[in-house]
Amino acid sequence: MKGTFITVEGPDGAGKTTQLQLLGEVLKEKGYNVMTTREPGGTRVGNEIRSLILNPVFEEMTEMTEILLYAASRAQHVEELIRPALEAGTIVLCDRFVDASLAYQGYGLGHPIDLVRQINASATGGLEPDRTYLFDLTVSDSKKRMMDRGALDRIEQRDDAFRARVYEGFQQIAATDSERVQIVQANRSIEAIHLELVEDVMTYLKERERFS
Ligand code: TMP
Repeated sequence: MKGTFITVEGPDGAGKTTQLQLLGEVLKEKGYNVMTTREPGGTRVGNEIRSLILNPVFEEMTEMTEILLYAASRAQHVEELIRPALEAGTIVLCDRFVDASLAYQGYGLGHPIDLVRQINASATGGLEPDRTYLFDLTVSDSKKRMMDRGALDRIEQRDDAFRARVYEGFQQIAATDSERVQIVQANRSIEAIHLELVEDVMTYLKERERFS
């Protein structure tokens, strides 16, 4: 595939979305074709699934339904948007991907990691990010930032024990895939994080260009 697939992951309130937007603007200024998108969502179908998954009114949603809905949004996203963009040589910046399902539904809810992995491999046709930035923020800092943002969605309403399992899950993912997953300390200024990301992405892109 000609393009580059970059994802950001981490707990709620870690600043991923802000950083992805800023990174996208800089890459565009440098002349790259960039597409910024997010999960769940990114497409018309995905956005409908997003409002279904996150709406606190659906208390009865089973955990397997939740796993499959995230995967369904992802299947639509990959086929409709991400794969065509990568084939056209675009840099795709995506706010969350399969790692989020492994961390939240696998480690967080306690479903077998291999099962969540398999379901998602079917959904994505095996597509994996080239590079992932894991925003590292403690459970208490994440909770503080979420509370400051106002109303909590269905997933954000879960307890601290869930958040701690998600945190540990992300750490495990980073440890087992340390080439792809870069840890970003998220309790710093927007500017400091932005500069670090731009530098790392530019180094990564130059390396890829050199070997392609
Ligand atoms: P967002 O706030 O980053 O847009 O993500 C929405 C929520 O969905 C957030 O609490 C994380 C959660 N989530 C999962 O539980 N599993 C997933 O696969 C994804 C993509 C998000």
